[in-house]
Amino acid sequence: MLRSHTCGELNLTHKGHTATLSGWVQRSRDLGGMTFIDLRDRYGITQLVFNMETNAALCEEARKLGREFVIRVTGQVAERSNKNPKMPTGDIEIIVDVLEILNTFKTPPFTIEDNTDGGDELRMKYRYLDLRRNTVRDNLMLRHRMGIETRLYMNNIGFIEVETPVLIKSTPEGARDFVVPSRMNEGQFYALPQSPQTFKQLLMVAGIDKYFQIVKCFRDEDLRADRQPEFTQIDCEMSFITQDDILDTFEGLTRHLFKTVKGVETAKLPRMTYADAMRLYGNDKPDIRFGMTIVELTGMVKGHEFKVFDDAELVAGINATACAVYTRKQLDALTDFVKRPQIGAGGLIYVRYNEDGTLKSSVDKFYSEEELKKWALAFDAKPGDLMLILAGAANKTRKALSELRLEMGGQLGLRTPEVFAPLWVVDFPLLEWDEDTRRYYAMHHPFTSPKPEDIPLLDTDPGKVRANAYDLVINGVEIGGGSIRIHNKDLQKKMFTILGFTDEDAQAQFGFLMNAFEFGAPPHGGIAFGFDRMCSLFGGSDSIRDYIAFPKNNNGRDVMIDSPSPIKQEQLDELRLIVNLQGK
Ligand code: AMO
Repeated sequence: MLRSHTCGELNLTHKGHTATLSGWVQRSRDLGGMTFIDLRDRYGITQLVFNMETNAALCEEARKLGREFVIRVTGQVAERSNKNPKMPTGDIEIIVDVLEILNTFKTPPFTIEDNTDGGDELRMKYRYLDLRRNTVRDNLMLRHRMGIETRLYMNNIGFIEVETPVLIKSTPEGARDFVVPSRMNEGQFYALPQSPQTFKQLLMVAGIDKYFQIVKCFRDEDLRADRQPEFTQIDCEMSFITQDDILDTFEGLTRHLFKTVKGVETAKLPRMTYADAMRLYGNDKPDIRFGMTIVELTGMVKGHEFKVFDDAELVAGINATACAVYTRKQLDALTDFVKRPQIGAGGLIYVRYNEDGTLKSSVDKFYSEEELKKWALAFDAKPGDLMLILAGAANKTRKALSELRLEMGGQLGLRTPEVFAPLWVVDFPLLEWDEDTRRYYAMHHPFTSPKPEDIPLLDTDPGKVRANAYDLVINGVEIGGGSIRIHNKDLQKKMFTILGFTDEDAQAQFGFLMNAFEFGAPPHGGIAFGFDRMCSLFGGSDSIRDYIAFPKNNNGRDVMIDSPSPIKQEQLDELRLIVNLQGK
């Protein structure tokens, strides 16, 4: 070993011992007679001392050390005269006798400290240097803990981890596939799994009745802070269960992780139907850290010659507690916010409930104070509150109100990352109608089973069918999703027909699964958690990149290894691929 101890380990109990440490030079201070160096490794920082009087040559050598040089030192552990209580090793220092330079370091592209001056791209390019910083390394430590605790918990309740292949055939989860050409099967391609969905279902047919896997998934979709092209799931499946069994089991895992990793006890998770989530929060992933739910006014506001309300399918709003003091400027900013193209509201109507009990609105011309009082009652508003109202097509208005609610929650400090508010959203619709392509899409995926009582609606009104599907939502983030699956060949075939597959297409793409259903497939269901999202949520960050050792940027590039990149003509020839970039 090139060290006897780590840089985070020594304290007064080691006083007088000889220690050998290896690590990186974090910082050096030259005080004339003495040179101090902070030596850093994964475990912490230890102060080294070089004394001009006792060993001038060594001290001269130490003065030449640059930041991030890799060195090995041997010396005696001594008590510090000015201790640093903020550091675990702050009571001691090493009086160095032997110094060996193990490697040098070029000028750093950015400062390798908690508060770095490096921009995003630069830190990604030199990710191995970024990972030397405590904050980034702590994120990886948290991820490691999450993984270990997940495996312990799942093992304890009888799940086994089974690896499924990475070179597969496409599974229709909604995103585009990444594909890999096959040299041995000319003109044919593998797809990287968007999830191990079909394999885990086949494992259930195989009798592995409690499966899990911490697994890489790949989706070629537009990237955002919470989406990477390759990401990790905690993927799970169980046989002979009901939806309640699944929710209970994975609520157990969620609570275990909160307890062991964050030291947070969580109460039983509330369950909310999709319909209620949309009605009250305008969103299928409601942030329930705060109330401010949507109140509908449509019935009570029509017939006052205010065209915006008269023409609207939905008039609804939220009540912002104690915001009557908002200035004109603040209200204008909120109006601009809801009018942004991504949100798309036509305008914002407000009612101030003044402290003196009077009501003042932006539509005073059409509504008397008496009328406004009725609105205030509907909102359960108190003097000092501010009611914010939008009107228009129902779905669009709900969506816009959801954004406005989250914005107000943010402005009022109600969305603090230290508070965790998990819930289950249940009873999702089975299908989603797409106006552009004029067909139904599976809201979760095509293997999700309809609620038995809704099966007759498949023939009459498919859009009304509810699924046995559920999402785990925490602080407004979709952390996981799953469903009870179809395990009957005929029902699965019917689903594919509703989704616009011909019998031949369905057979060609999913024959292997439907055939398996004829060989004693048990009732089964499961869930997958977005592991990166879970880690970033636990760590209090919005960006999953911070919790991935080597992430891609928003263009799907790894700027460190410069990938994707062209391949050599020989490789293309071997694969018999012709790259045609014409018309690009
Ligand atoms: P779903 O598609 O809902 O379900 O994915 C499960 C969870 O994975 C996370 N996730 C992502 N995380 C980071 N980057 C991405 N691009 C990304 N896409 C999804 C989300 C999501 O909730 N096979 C089904 C699960 C099942 O039915 O059992 C599936 O993959 O947190």
